[in-house]
Order: sequence, then C-alpha cells, then structure tokens
Amino acid sequence: MCGIFGCVLSEGSAAPIIHRALERLEYRGYDSVGEATVYGGRVHVKKAAGKIGEIHKLLNLDDLPGSVGIGHTRWATHGKPSDRNAHPLFDCKENVAVVHNGIIENYQELKDMLIEKGHSFISDTDTEIIPHLIEENISLGLEKAVMEAVRKFEGRYAIAAISSDENMLVGVRRGSPLIVGRSENKTFIASDIPAFLNHTNQVMYLDDNEMVVIDGNVRFFNTETGQSIEKRLITINWDAKQAEKGEYPYFVIKEIMEQKETIMRAINQDENTILRTAEEIKRAYGTFFTGCGTAGKVCMAGEYIFSKVAKKHVNFVISSEFPNYKHFLTDKTLLITISQSGETADLMEAVETARKMGVKVLSLVNVMGSSLYRNSDYAFLLNAGPEKAVASTKATTAQLALVTLLAYAVAGRLQEGKRLLMETASKVNDMLNPRYEARIAELARKLKDSQSIYIIGRSLNYPMAMEAAIKIMELSNIHAQGFAGGELKHGPLALIQDGTPCIVFAANDETRVDIISNAMEVKARGGYIIGVSPRNNEVFDYWIKVPDVGNASPVVNIIPIQILAYHLALLRGCDPDYCRNLAKSVTVK
Ligand code: AGP
Ligand code: GLU
Repeated sequence: MCGIFGCVLSEGSAAPIIHRALERLEYRGYDSVGEATVYGGRVHVKKAAGKIGEIHKLLNLDDLPGSVGIGHTRWATHGKPSDRNAHPLFDCKENVAVVHNGIIENYQELKDMLIEKGHSFISDTDTEIIPHLIEENISLGLEKAVMEAVRKFEGRYAIAAISSDENMLVGVRRGSPLIVGRSENKTFIASDIPAFLNHTNQVMYLDDNEMVVIDGNVRFFNTETGQSIEKRLITINWDAKQAEKGEYPYFVIKEIMEQKETIMRAINQDENTILRTAEEIKRAYGTFFTGCGTAGKVCMAGEYIFSKVAKKHVNFVISSEFPNYKHFLTDKTLLITISQSGETADLMEAVETARKMGVKVLSLVNVMGSSLYRNSDYAFLLNAGPEKAVASTKATTAQLALVTLLAYAVAGRLQEGKRLLMETASKVNDMLNPRYEARIAELARKLKDSQSIYIIGRSLNYPMAMEAAIKIMELSNIHAQGFAGGELKHGPLALIQDGTPCIVFAANDETRVDIISNAMEVKARGGYIIGVSPRNNEVFDYWIKVPDVGNASPVVNIIPIQILAYHLALLRGCDPDYCRNLAKSVTVK
C-alpha cells in the first residue's frame, strides 16, 4: 500500500525530487508523509500525519539538505495515522532512517528482543524494528547491516534505508514492489515507475529477496545467499504525461474519459498469441479465474462470458479465498488472474499457492514489469496506461474487453469477437460526451442524499451490479449493494422503502424480461428505478441509455455508473481520487 521512494543524485538537492515523487505516489496511501536526507554526518527529517499538500504548506518539504534521501506516503497497518507513526522511522541514535511498505509479521517478537537489548521505541508501527535491527550491526556499514537485518524478519515488504555516515541508499524487496530507475546522474528506487518517470524511463526490477545498494554505482545482491546479481536495464514505453491529470480536475474522470481509447488498445493484441492462449485454455483440465475487488468482479463476469460464449466452465474464486481451494489444483489446472496493478498481495498469494501445485498462470495485467507480470507463464498487458485514481475504471473495461475477446477465441470465433469489441469501443467513444455526463450528473443530484443504493443485474451483468456497488461505495461513501435480480425476493426486498434507489442493468438479451420483472417488484414496494439499458421501459423512473453491444454489455453498462459515482463524490465532498480508508495498490494481506 504505502509508496516508498529513494534517490541518490550526483549533485543537487534530493528533497524537491522526493517531494514530487511522493505526490505521484500519494495514490498508494495518504495517511501521512515523510522524507529524510543525509547531509553533514546527520540524517535530516520532515514528517507528519496528513496529505502531502497540507504537510508541505506547514513544513516545506523541498527544504532539506543533501543529495541522498528517502520518502514515504503511508497507508497505516500497524498504529494509527499520526506524526509519531509516520515514516521514516529511526534507530535509537537517529543515525539510521527507514521507509517501509508491507508488514513485518514477527515484529512483536523482534521488538521484545530489541527492548531486552536496551533499544527504545517511540512508534506503534511494525516498521520501527527495522532501523533498530540495522543499528545492531551499523558498525559494519549500512550495506552489511541491512543484509543482516532482513535475514531476521518475516513478512512481505519493500524497504529503503539511509544512514548518517554514508552517501548511500539501500533497498530490499520481498513481496512488495520495488523498482530501480537510472538516468545519467540520478538513481532512484520507488514502489511504482511514475514516481520517477519524469527523470527516466530506464528501469531495473528487483525480485523477491533481492537488495540494491546505490552509491556512486548500483549493485544488486541476493539477500539469502549474499551473492551479487546482474540486472538488465529495461526501457518503459509509458511517458510522464500519461501519469498527469492534464486538463482534468481529478485522475478518476480523466481515466473514465480515456475509455474512449483504452478499450481499443486492450483488444489490440497479437492474434497468434491470443490463439495460442485459447488452445492452452482449451487444454486445461480445471480452470480458475481469480482477482480482488473490482478485478474480482471482472473475473466473475468472465465466468459467465466463458460459459455463454465459449461453453467452457471456469471457476471464479476471489484471491483471498483461493488458497482454500488448493485441494482442487493439479498440474493440469490453469489459473487466469486479472489485476490492474499486478501487485495485490492476496492475488500474489493465490499465484504462489497455484505455483506450488504445478499450476500454470495466465495473467491479464496493466502494469508491465509488475510482480504478477513477471510471475506468470503467459501475460497479456491491458495497455490502459497508468491508472492513478484509487477507483479502477479504465483498467476494468480493458479487462472486460480482453476477457470477452479470449472467450470468443476459445469458441473459435476470434474475428467475430474482435468485430464486436471494436464496435463497442467506437460506441463508447460516442457515448462519452459532455451531454451524456450532464444527464448522469443530474441523476447524481437526485441521489446524493440517499442512505443506500441497490443495483441489480442478471447473467453477465450480475457481477457488474456488484462492481457498480464498489464504485458507488468507494467514491461517494454511500452504502451500495449489488444483487442478482432473482435474489431480491429471498431477502433484500425487505430493505426497499419509498424512494429507495435501485439501478437496473437491463441488457438487450435473454435476461431482459426477468430483470424488468424484478424491477417491477422493487417499484411495487416504492423503489425509485434507474434503468441502464439500450431501450426505455415504463418501469424506469430515470433512464440512462447505453448502446446495444450484445455480449459486451458489461463494458458499456459500468461506464455510466463510474460517472455517477464520480459526481456523487463531488456532490458529497468526497475526494474522488483518494477514497476514504483505501489505497490503490493493496500490497498487504
Ligand atoms: C477498485 O476500484 C478497487 N479500489 C479495488 O477493489 C481494486 O480493484 C482491487 O484492490 C484490486 O486491485 P488490482 O486490480 O490492482 O489487483
Ligand atoms: N506496516 C507499515 C505501517 O503501518 C507499512 C504499511 C503499508 O505498507 O501499508 O506503517
């Protein structure tokens, strides 16, 4: 979750570079912010709870001396957001500073041991044991002291450390992302590439149990064996502008509007690779889809799409539950994972579980070079460009499009699938105009004081009802819940009162008659019916028109709800980019 950053410059001041990088990493966590630099035999620090903009006004984050430093944006796991718990955290003498992303699982045991040895702690975090463990061996130099320390702790983490006596930065990765960026006279480490993309697009990836030592040079080691490792420089084809808001007030609306192009980019894959993958899927004996949150809902839609289009049974299991399905895995099983970030801890654990059972892994992922991308047997890139807003939008529709394309390929109807999705992309392009947004903004004004919003769908659009609920909840903090249309009468109908809003996905398919009947049932109990449909119906109190795109209906149905959730957020004073209590990349279990 947290964003970590570090840089070593051959000249100039590190602090302004750290500050800018933290702004770009803020989507990963926004509970507190901090930075530390090395200068004149001391570590200098500024940190506090709150968002970067506010903290900068108070403390001036550009004003720290030195050309080596680290920075952190926090999403608290251990210890509430406070100045005291903000990273960087220190050893007893404030000579060693550490930023950390992840969780140290055996921190309590190590903390007790360190207290016994006379160390004193000032925070409630798990992280603070790291600088104290490093302190134990700091007389050997930072590089050796970090190597010794990481061998003692367990969990998933990425850390960056500096010490007062060396112009050196050390980074270690196990389970959480850490990437090195190099330009001629600056070297960086960061949780995510956009943090340094304005300086360089030349990167090197750290794998688990690897350490990087940056001083005048850049050296890599395996932390378990101590052996040095050679790394290749890779050129990234994202440009810094793609990761900026541009003319838009928020990333989320920029990313919603980018769906004019991203659906087309998602399906623009090499046909031979698609066909080979389709063969692999057909050969598999037992196939699972897995993902978390929104990506999980795409997986669930995938289950329906594969059943309907490819007549192939694929099981959907949310990643956090996947390890509990390990008894069904064999070396003939195929695991299809879907993720924007490619770093979600629950998903990575599912992949680990699968790998141990000899299962092959196929991934649909947005971030090139992410842990998932590198740990898969086959990976398709979504090509949606950086998605910064916490609420996933353009990655979702790219995933839906690609899953649909794969289902058509498995059915031996790749060209038909391609034509359908190209037509869908072009209809989304027409749909995303200011008039359309205004019509949805008008609906948002009607719904902004609702206690709860319910969403129903059937078949392919049942998972979309659940995804619509995620969008509304995380963006506007209104309680929302998605149901299969047929389920209401088994319980949830009890919640419908006069005026309760209920969004109905009524695609032009075999489920239309039934879902309209379900809408009638809600209306009969006083519900206010919002129809998302290619055709109007008398049951709808408010109609949002979507194009008729057959089996690609999930793609077009979710877009107006993304816009609705965004407008609800604005009207209710929620920050549409930084959803309450959440973070973009969930790298803790
Ligand atoms: C999306 O709007 C959510 N914030 C969240 O559910 C997200 O989809 C989930 O954490 C999975 O992330 P991933 O796609 O990066 O794996
Ligand atoms: N466990 C650390 C903390 O609570 C880091 C959290 C994270 O990576 O999200 O400060």
